[in-house]
Amino acid sequence: MPRLANSVHHYDIRVSDNDHWTATGLVNGKSILLIIGGGIAAYKSLELIRRARERGARVRAVLTPAAQQFVTPLAVSTLCEEKAFTELFDLKDETEIGHIRLSRDADIIIIAPATANLLARMANGLADDLATSVLLAANKPILAAPAMNWQMWENPATRRNLARLRADGLHFTGPAEGAMACNEWGVGRMAEPAEILDAAEGILNAEAGPLKGAHVLITAGPTHEPIDPVRYIANRSSGKQGYAIAAAAAALGARVTLVSGPVALAPPANVRLVRVESARQMLEAVEAALPAEIGIFTAAVADWRAADEHAQKIKKLGKAKAPTLTLAENPDILRTVARRASQRPPLVIGFAAETENIVDYAKKKLAAKGCDWIVANDVSAEIGVMGGDDNQVLLVTNDGAEGWPAMGKDEVAEKLMQRAAAFLRDKRSGLAAAAAE
Ligand SMILES: Cc1cc2nc3c(=O)[nH]c(=O)nc-3n(C[C@H](O)[C@H](O)[C@H](O)COP(=O)(O)O)c2cc1C
Repeated sequence: MPRLANSVHHYDIRVSDNDHWTATGLVNGKSILLIIGGGIAAYKSLELIRRARERGARVRAVLTPAAQQFVTPLAVSTLCEEKAFTELFDLKDETEIGHIRLSRDADIIIIAPATANLLARMANGLADDLATSVLLAANKPILAAPAMNWQMWENPATRRNLARLRADGLHFTGPAEGAMACNEWGVGRMAEPAEILDAAEGILNAEAGPLKGAHVLITAGPTHEPIDPVRYIANRSSGKQGYAIAAAAAALGARVTLVSGPVALAPPANVRLVRVESARQMLEAVEAALPAEIGIFTAAVADWRAADEHAQKIKKLGKAKAPTLTLAENPDILRTVARRASQRPPLVIGFAAETENIVDYAKKKLAAKGCDWIVANDVSAEIGVMGGDDNQVLLVTNDGAEGWPAMGKDEVAEKLMQRAAAFLRDKRSGLAAAAAE
């Protein structure tokens, strides 16, 4: 999670003797609609209500019929200090609150635990009880915390449902790996209540973010250029800076597509990740993801690939017979996108990794590629940028070069995305002013 000035969690919780709280947090003053599914983790939903209320949120809860086998509406309503909702055909509630109002009154909907069954019903647009009717009619961000046996989680049907729900814009947190109630071990444990609330705060923050509505396309990591089925040409890019930028853009409300070469990093939350290997695959994925308002090209794309990719492993033929590797030039992704006649993002940002004459090369690269900004960094081995957590960059635009002090890659990401958001805002207001003239 990037360290965003407005997403730092300040909790000032004072628990008084009579167990009432005053709190300040990002959900403070917000309304959470909690949908409780019928899984064994439903007991944690009680803890979730308490923690949400500690953070200053109002919580209303809907229980599925199955959920009521695990926790009682009485316990839920006692902790919420609100009626717990269970029935779709409850005339009083349909007049006074109703399934539409339940979502309209909320700032965010959290499903915890999100059972395999609930996910399946949502993925198929069913509305056969109060919970799914509310969810289908929802006009608010939905965060699901799946919880189920690991084999249910791995089941191809669940995978299909998840992919569909992700494409529909649902947010997810967890599940984690660990011991299960059924005495098995695997991925399927519901995220902890604090993690679920942190994720909800991230979503609420993004909803109010300056990049809301913008599509940000980012490339990251190295590319692997195959020589034969087992060997490839690669480089030392870790992808950390690109992943941090993707997380920062998502935290500011952008819809983010991250096209990533092979890296050992967990995908950032709320980002669409497209995994690729070679430069040519990366270009294809980038072009397929257009249009975008901002394109940020941090990937260390291999300049060359093996001219002939061998279908079989190249055999060792003896000392004197080392094979010759002929290289062919790879497509220049940054230049290709920056010079597109159609669907060129209004802001194209390239990254330059140099080991000498950084300013000079960055200025030349800006002109040669046709991009708007270059973020240049010194990747000499002694600086430790490649693979490290810190970065010292220089932002080169047509107006000049600006050196930034050394900072964490997440801070570089945040600063860069704030600048990009300001650029977009100015561009949009400039266009609006021109249109009004
Ligand atoms: C003891 C027990 C534990 C269960 N735990 C889970 C679970 O953790 N996750 C899950 O997806 N289903 C679980 N189920 C199955 C669900 O209860 C069942 O699919 C139910 O139809 C879910 O309904 P709902 O999605 O409307 O809440 C469990 C069932 C039983 C009997």
